[in-house]
Amino acid sequence: MKTTMQRYLSVAAITIVGAMGIFVFNSDLRFETSISAQTNPTPTPIPAEFDQQAALAKLREQIKGREKEPASAVFKNIQTMKDRPTGQLLAVMEFGYSRSLGVTCTHCHVPDNWESEDKPTKQVARDMSAMVGRINGEMLKGIKNLKSASPTVNCTTCHRGQVVPALNLPMPPKP
Ligand code: HEC
Ligand code: HEC
Repeated sequence: MKTTMQRYLSVAAITIVGAMGIFVFNSDLRFETSISAQTNPTPTPIPAEFDQQAALAKLREQIKGREKEPASAVFKNIQTMKDRPTGQLLAVMEFGYSRSLGVTCTHCHVPDNWESEDKPTKQVARDMSAMVGRINGEMLKGIKNLKSASPTVNCTTCHRGQVVPALNLPMPPKP
């Protein structure tokens, strides 16, 4: 024989499990919604207080005359792009990274402390670069009958001006 208390508790337990189910279901919905929201090609807002052109101008001034030297000889903490000419490294930063993700330098850097690893996104960028290297160097090479002689992906291929790449295309306009 169940006491009233036990009956009350089992009803409460069922209610809680049910509510959890609804929560999980809803969070899936939220996930879907947030994914669809990412399909709008709206770049991440850029913080107003950071002047990217001024920061780049200052760096170009600092490396003046050394643009062709390897980046690792001029900068302090180059781990992957060691042999890339210093001038080119800044172009990668401006166009290859910032523009393709729709961010400014501050997404990965503390300005004027460029060598620091304070922001985890900086290492993510290195890991992404390694991933792109494997896609281009190993995986795409293994696919036969492609149109290009050397089929290539880069940061823009996925990011297209957004931090989180889209998973869906925008819905076509209603007729
Ligand atoms: C998506 C992340 C990301 C963005 C955005 C980015 N950087 Fe970088 N930056 C890196 C990574 C990663 C390295 C280190 C590369 C390596 O280890 O080979 C780096 C290195 C540097 C360095 C060399 C610092 C040193 O002394 O070692 C400078 C200078 C720099 N970035 C400037 C900039 C500027 C200026 C911008 C904006 C125009 C910018 N970066 C945007 C990821 C980023
Ligand atoms: C094959 C697709 C693909 C390519 C190519 C790609 N990325 Fe990504 N990137 C992703 C995905 C997926 C995420 C994770 C987004 C999320 O958090 O859901 C991501 C996340 C990131 C993040 C973290 C952003 C944040 O604020 O959390 C950085 C930084 C980044 N990518 C940089 C790069 C750079 C730099 C390149 C080019 C070297 C690159 N990515 C190329 C798919 C890609």
